[in-house]
Amino acid sequence: MYSLIPFAVILFSSSAFSHTFIWGVFVNGVDQGTFRGIRLPAYNGAPNAGGYANSPVKNLTSIDMRCNVMGDIQAPDTIKVAPGDNLTFDWHHNSRTLTDDVIASSHHGPAMIYISPDPPTENSFVKIWEEGLYSFGNWATTEDIAKNGGHMNVRVPAGLKAGYYLIRAEMVGLHEANVAYDLNPVRGAQFYPDCVQIEVGGDGTVELPSGVSFPGAYSYEDPGIVYDVYCSTATPKPTTTCTTTYQIPGPTVWSGAWSTTTSISLSSIAGPTTATPWSTWIQKSIVTSAEYSTATDITVLGSSLYQAKWSSTYQTPDPTGS
Ligand SMILES: *[C@@H]1O[C@H](CO)[C@@H](O)[C@H](O)[C@H]1NC(C)=O
Ligand SMILES: *[C@@H]1O[C@H](CO)[C@@H](O)[C@H](O)[C@H]1NC(C)=O
Repeated sequence: MYSLIPFAVILFSSSAFSHTFIWGVFVNGVDQGTFRGIRLPAYNGAPNAGGYANSPVKNLTSIDMRCNVMGDIQAPDTIKVAPGDNLTFDWHHNSRTLTDDVIASSHHGPAMIYISPDPPTENSFVKIWEEGLYSFGNWATTEDIAKNGGHMNVRVPAGLKAGYYLIRAEMVGLHEANVAYDLNPVRGAQFYPDCVQIEVGGDGTVELPSGVSFPGAYSYEDPGIVYDVYCSTATPKPTTTCTTTYQIPGPTVWSGAWSTTTSISLSSIAGPTTATPWSTWIQKSIVTSAEYSTATDITVLGSSLYQAKWSSTYQTPDPTGS
């Protein structure tokens, strides 16, 4: 029926295909530990393309736009924060090290951060930070974040009411975005969303306003989704009609978010610098295209891709990690 493939084989054969995701979260400069509180994207390619291929999400109507592949599956732990805390998301590509390239140098594009109550509901994601093209050729992904060690900074909104929240951070690669994915699925903007589970403490009273849904927030008609990035990176520019300004996709940043974020000094990282096989952290969901038999062996059903389904009965986030 299907073959048993040792996980290590998959990991080694796929590492070159993996793209950027969040490996750690610093709270006020203190690392909370590799992969703690993070919904690590699962594989989203056929087995021969990699059992751990964190390929980009390109289909704007896919559930994967929310928290990436298998993003409905909760991380076993939740990061405790307070309003006003400075969070630094540590994005990496192949390893959680200073020599890692963070994201391929061609993947110019914007980066955005949203927050939603956890679990998310209709229109519950509120944008709290964004960065796009900030000077000719300089993009959030490849210039700011990649050249600053993969660090993406945001502050927990002032006075935010206590409770469980999901932060959805994303990097977007526009290197093939001159055509919409629905017209040409080989190309299109590449999205790397990743979700972090936080529990806000304190006695704040600020509630989030209505926001947007994922999927749903972006459309193939958005000028920031179908965009020729080479108009604002290449010299000379392409000969086709060129727009050198850039409009970041999604809603405007919520007025309750901090207007500036500063990078703060960070502690050394706590935890491993290499990726954790996704078979070791999937615990609470049924996986339709792949299942693991032991912690080290994995059975992959090669013919169909995983379809993420959000549970109708959502697990209450559990900060104790049980
Ligand atoms: C995009 O995702 C939607 C929703 O899951 C699905 O119906 C559609 O077939 C997908 N499109 C492509 C080209 O895969
Ligand atoms: C977050 O950073 C800002 C700017 O550096 C600083 O003023 C503030 O005290 C920091 N907040 C916390 C909780 O450390």
